[in-house]
Amino acid sequence: MAVKHFHHATLQVPDVAAQFQFYKDFGLTGRARGNNAVMRCKDRKQDQVIITEGSTMGLHDLSFGATKAGIRKIRKRAEERDDVSVIDPPKNAPYRGLWIRHDFDGMIYNVNDDPAAKSLGGVKPAKKQPEYKVNTPGHFYRVNEKLDLPIDTKPVPRRLGHMVHFTPEVDRKVDFYSDVLGLQLTDRSGDLIAFMRPAGGSDHHVVGFVKDKKPGFHHISFEVGNPDEVGMGGQSLLNRGYRNGWGFGRHALGSNFFWYVRDPHMGLCEYFSDIDYIAEDDKWTPRDWPIEVAFYLWGPPPPKAFGTNYTGNRKVVKPESISYSRV
Ligand SMILES: [Fe+2]
Repeated sequence: MAVKHFHHATLQVPDVAAQFQFYKDFGLTGRARGNNAVMRCKDRKQDQVIITEGSTMGLHDLSFGATKAGIRKIRKRAEERDDVSVIDPPKNAPYRGLWIRHDFDGMIYNVNDDPAAKSLGGVKPAKKQPEYKVNTPGHFYRVNEKLDLPIDTKPVPRRLGHMVHFTPEVDRKVDFYSDVLGLQLTDRSGDLIAFMRPAGGSDHHVVGFVKDKKPGFHHISFEVGNPDEVGMGGQSLLNRGYRNGWGFGRHALGSNFFWYVRDPHMGLCEYFSDIDYIAEDDKWTPRDWPIEVAFYLWGPPPPKAFGTNYTGNRKVVKPESISYSRV
């Protein structure tokens, strides 16, 4: 028994209102809660991102869901280890449950017993979703009908899928997530990057971590309806004046289509579609991939900034003008 699902991420930023507006433009719904803001996906009764005010940009904490018995087991494991501390909930924390700190890098984790809320995404959406029909040689599924894709399509983020953070030591984080939270290693690339997931049916990864000198926030990622929504979502944010992160492309590990856009504090937010799904853990063997083939299958060359750790950034850049025009 261990963690069952990724519940939400809490980010701290200097300008809560600017971050709130970015996520609204990304397609999330939201409301202010005191000095914080809480973002959700349409028709999903689960907080997905909590934005809290801080002097610099960074990851405040990560929250996972588990059963009550699972939480007891995680607490016991945390207490047994000398590099993990059970801590009091941060001031004004909206979730109870267990709070622990991985003392190695100072990252804070919450494990609560809030079950995963139904969403419009994933393997079993709460409502029937339109089929994505494509025509490939020998497999024509859209026949006698035009592609139904209005030019002003706005993607609907269905659910928070995963997050990626920086760490000084990938091996230590693999050990922490597996030994304390009970996650499974899905794939890795040496000591540079690793992807992990809960057992018992999951996306390829709910958490990933990339080696850097210091810990920090890289990105959060939301599932949208199909690859077209990934493309149209990224394009629409560039149209609004936000900065490109990286995209449109297709990852190698996880296989998902991606487009990353920079938020006003230099964090990244990703639209994804068609990620690998592991239903039965014994049918997946984790592999160690050479970085040359692990990063992406196709797409524009990744900007150098894509791998930069901007945690600690104080600067806020709001979209000021339309930087891209279709005509
Ligand atoms: Fe991602």
